[in-house]
Amino acid sequence: MYRWSVVSKSETETLEIGKKLGRLLSQPTLVLLQGDLGAGKTVFARGIARGLGVDSAIPITSPTFTLMNHYSARIDLYHFDLYRLSDPDELIELGFDDYAFGSGIALVEWPEKLDNPETPGVWVNLKRIDDELREITFTVTAPEYVDLITALSDR
Ligand SMILES: Nc1ncnc2c1ncn2[C@@H]1O[C@H](COP(=O)(O)OP(=O)(O)O)[C@@H](O)[C@H]1O
Ligand SMILES: [Mg+2]
Repeated sequence: MYRWSVVSKSETETLEIGKKLGRLLSQPTLVLLQGDLGAGKTVFARGIARGLGVDSAIPITSPTFTLMNHYSARIDLYHFDLYRLSDPDELIELGFDDYAFGSGIALVEWPEKLDNPETPGVWVNLKRIDDELREITFTVTAPEYVDLITALSDR
């Protein structure tokens, strides 16, 4: 297991870290975004989207009611927010596995709602320290993701 933490001092910094990760993504990847309401999961997701090349004119907001938003980019992006998921069967209806283990980048807010808490992928935990400070911790196990997070921490 490989773990790296960084402290973000502002929304802009969190956006930039997400953007760097988005630029580094080159293959289908599942990114699991953990953290309380207001921790910055959607800000981070927005950064990844920008790094993948989603035009800055296109708003990136939590798909709270639709559960999933799709964006065309260098690699297609599927952004999930499972906060309102009441029944895991809804995931099957959504075709979740096809996106999460498909050819695109899948970002999942509230991955705690998934059946399998050991889901392999890039785990990102955002922790609110105060109004502006966030501790962002990346946890990965697969070797290709270790390389990815090593590259992220290098820049
Ligand atoms: N360092 C920071 N990183 C991310 N967001 C921050 C930071 N400091 C303050 N914020 C604020 O915290 C909120 C995060 O909101 P959001 O990303 O929607 O959270 P979540 O999706 O986790 O519920 C935004 O209002 C943002 O301006
Ligand atoms: Mg959100």
